[in-house]
Amino acid sequence: MSFRNTDPADAAYVEDVSPGSGALPPRAWYASSDAASLSLNGRWRFRLSPTADAEDDSFAAPGYDCGDWAEVAVPGHWVLQGDGAFGAPVYTNHRYPLPVDPPRVPTENPTGDHLRFFDLPADWPAPAAPDAGGEGGAVLRFDGVESCARVWLNGTDLGEFKGSRLPHEFAVGHLLEPSGNVLAVRVHQWSAGSYLEDQDQWWLPGVFRDVTLLHRPAGSALDFFVHASYDHREGTGTLRVDSDVDGRVLVPGLDIDVETGQVITVPVRPWTAETPHLYDATLVTGGERVPLRIGFRTVVLEDGLIKVNGRPVLFKGVNRHEWHPEHGRALDLATMREDVLLMKRHNVNAVRTSHYPPHPAFLDLCDEYGLWVIDECDLETHGFTGQGWRDNPVDDDRWTPALLDRAARMVERDKNHPSVVVWSLGNEAGTGRGLTAMAEWIRGRDGSRLIHYEGDANCRDTDVYSRMYADHAEVDRIGRGLDGGPLGRRRLPFILCEYGHAMGNGPGGLADYQRIFEEHDRIQGGFVWEWIDHGIRDERYGFAYGGDFGEELHDGNFVCDGLLFPDRTPSPGLVEYKKVVEPVRIEGDGAGGTVRVTNTFDFADLSALAFAWSYEVDGEAVETGALDVPALAPGETADVKLPEPPVDGRGAETRWTVRAALAGDSAWAPRGHLVAWAQLPVSERPLVSVPASARPAPDGRGGITLGPGVFSARTGELTAVDGIDVVGLKLDVWRAPTDNDDGASWQPDARHGPLWRTLGLHRMRHRLEAVEPGEDALTVRTRVAPAAAEVGLRTVYRWTSDGTRLRLTVSVAPEGDWQVPLPRLGIRFGLPAGDRVRWHGGGPGEAYPDTAAASMLGRWEATVDELQTPYVRPQENGARADVRWAEIGQGAGRPALRVEGEPEFWFTARRWTSEQLDAAEHLTDLTPGDTVWVNLDHGQQGIGSQSCGPGVLPRYRLRVRPAEFSFVFSTP
Ligand code: GAL
Repeated sequence: MSFRNTDPADAAYVEDVSPGSGALPPRAWYASSDAASLSLNGRWRFRLSPTADAEDDSFAAPGYDCGDWAEVAVPGHWVLQGDGAFGAPVYTNHRYPLPVDPPRVPTENPTGDHLRFFDLPADWPAPAAPDAGGEGGAVLRFDGVESCARVWLNGTDLGEFKGSRLPHEFAVGHLLEPSGNVLAVRVHQWSAGSYLEDQDQWWLPGVFRDVTLLHRPAGSALDFFVHASYDHREGTGTLRVDSDVDGRVLVPGLDIDVETGQVITVPVRPWTAETPHLYDATLVTGGERVPLRIGFRTVVLEDGLIKVNGRPVLFKGVNRHEWHPEHGRALDLATMREDVLLMKRHNVNAVRTSHYPPHPAFLDLCDEYGLWVIDECDLETHGFTGQGWRDNPVDDDRWTPALLDRAARMVERDKNHPSVVVWSLGNEAGTGRGLTAMAEWIRGRDGSRLIHYEGDANCRDTDVYSRMYADHAEVDRIGRGLDGGPLGRRRLPFILCEYGHAMGNGPGGLADYQRIFEEHDRIQGGFVWEWIDHGIRDERYGFAYGGDFGEELHDGNFVCDGLLFPDRTPSPGLVEYKKVVEPVRIEGDGAGGTVRVTNTFDFADLSALAFAWSYEVDGEAVETGALDVPALAPGETADVKLPEPPVDGRGAETRWTVRAALAGDSAWAPRGHLVAWAQLPVSERPLVSVPASARPAPDGRGGITLGPGVFSARTGELTAVDGIDVVGLKLDVWRAPTDNDDGASWQPDARHGPLWRTLGLHRMRHRLEAVEPGEDALTVRTRVAPAAAEVGLRTVYRWTSDGTRLRLTVSVAPEGDWQVPLPRLGIRFGLPAGDRVRWHGGGPGEAYPDTAAASMLGRWEATVDELQTPYVRPQENGARADVRWAEIGQGAGRPALRVEGEPEFWFTARRWTSEQLDAAEHLTDLTPGDTVWVNLDHGQQGIGSQSCGPGVLPRYRLRVRPAEFSFVFSTP
């Protein structure tokens, strides 16, 4: 055993553009086989140094005394461990947190020395045979280390590597001892590799994926490639498993027992994301039996379309970064499975592994449960955009070996997954020869999949025209083939690899996109940006985001832009997406009693679904029953008759709700799980009639009474209804701007949040012009306007009563030249804190004009706290749409105030004001007061997606124009 005391200057490899040295060639990854393996995950000894060469590498020598070292968990990121003792995470979007001086990195380069001591299990095959390139012996596998590592085993320097989210293996059989093995790993936060890993996420150094010792029996395959295609015309699958050693392939379910390299064609059930049929198989070589799960499917580009098994597919996708609020990108299997289950349960059918190959076990889950995967290489050089892409590594031949290494490590690792249908070269890396070299290499190695890369508008190297955040109109033009240019000549399918920026409240406009996707064959869907908020659990902030660790450069809460909150609670955005992409279209004529059902799956029929109707009177189901829908094939439509309405709903609002739910348990959700639904109105809601029979009268205490209402005679303000105190009821136009209202700084379009603030909509003044008690009404005339502006809203509150109910009609007449839409238009008031709210209207979750697809009309109930949506950065949230009536403040012995709207209104209630919500930076800044603040809105501005993408579509903007709306107050 020799120990080489390396010169600290050897840390030069850190700044070397090469991918590294000493590692074995890449090969297919598999979770297990009958060969012995030993997980080296667990507690490792750890020492952090401020620079790459502050410490010599004597720690790697057996016998080194690490007595005073700390410990970290592997897999893990050291910056998320040690309570701040090991530095902190840094979040930047595309700015490099290092000087752009490729391939050099700052001397301040946090370096983590890791030590793991292990004995071989008693039954470890002995004696360790010589490695001879892996033939017999053992390999040490690192599934992911950020950003650069050097490895020693028992004092022998094995080599070093970069490529954080890619596996690296070393031959170690000749070095293993039965006991007392010392594995030493030195990890640098920054390296030349960091220039290739400028993804929009936290910078999180560490050994963050598994470390495993694998026995490689003599005669086992170095690598194997499963080719399993499907001929949809013949209904047959063709299988060939290539391997560098001869062996057999057994597929009991197909009676296959063939030699490796041999081609066999048999009738099979194909694999698709909707019907993920896998055949259990075994690759038997001289030294090892490797379990395989084979999915037969064929991906081609044909007629300008991406086709699988002969049919075009429509991606209903998400972009998935790996994220856990405590462990960062160190994900356990349960968390990966949770992601897959959540996707399946929300009708998501595709994942882009933005922007690096995920933990390999995630792809096993995609095979098993069925998701189309765009597997993306660990490559992004976005920070070079700041210098017009000068020095971009992808256009500099010196870096090409590193790029090819990354491409090969991805393809070799993941090539046996049926779920992977497209390889992606990377993200936002500009253009250059290196990308072309990657594409050429990939095509040569695996012609059975398509190639994607968004960053080259000419699609020189790709099979798919891909864009991010193109607006609706442009996608529609592309769909119509009106986009011209180089792509017009080469007919390529189109996808939005990113759209619907799910930052904070939103994204808005998903349903409008989906309509366009479904209208044009050429548009093959999109991938919402992104799956999960990367908030870090934190005592002080709840969930921390950029800047919360004192980073000198950061991009704030742009890292929280997912459909899941950091703890994986679905946000309203995911609920909306589920509805928008539901695989069954249910339409029809409620009054006529027919439902039209269309199967929008690409492959599956509807036999897995059971349909049911319910008949609702004023929001309450009075009867339900099964609806007999045939097991339609993909694309088929059927008209189905509804029963006779079970009750006479005259004088009430009535509707059918039709639901499609799982008829039996599936792998990803239990029987009864709701997949798709629609509501078909039968009769409309009657008007709310309140004859103005009561008269305003002085109450003798300086107030005015009108029916159940008490008003201030001086200000005309409502102070109580039936003994319930009411404070500050007045017109309200302000909402705490959402991330999408604020918009991204680069957006050329109007960014409404800042415009609203400049105009002063958050500090409106209310000028009282008259309080006019009349014969049958109390009229209060006001002008509502911001300081320093001439625009205003002349607002008249007209109160009437029938003696028991109080009706308010608000008339708003704009004055001046309003250049911006309003955030909201309605009234706001405070009530003494009460718990429960009941309403008839849209629910159960929040909705805004362009995020209302999933809002289901019905009777709902919630506490005020449950009405809040916990966006990581507080902002407008929680509105319920189309509310007919709401009863606020039930429970705790308090009477409820009932409000009916004419027309229907947006309802919001919270324990803080919009101003407090606006001022808060984290949820922990919000403390409930003893007033519940209620907004009843006639209008809300849509949400859009302008935190990165397009703004609010014109039809969802709250234009300033004359408006009139009423509310009726009473106590039930
Ligand atoms: C895209 C990028 C993503 C993410 C997103 C904004 O440009 O590819 O990584 O930064 O914008 O959240």
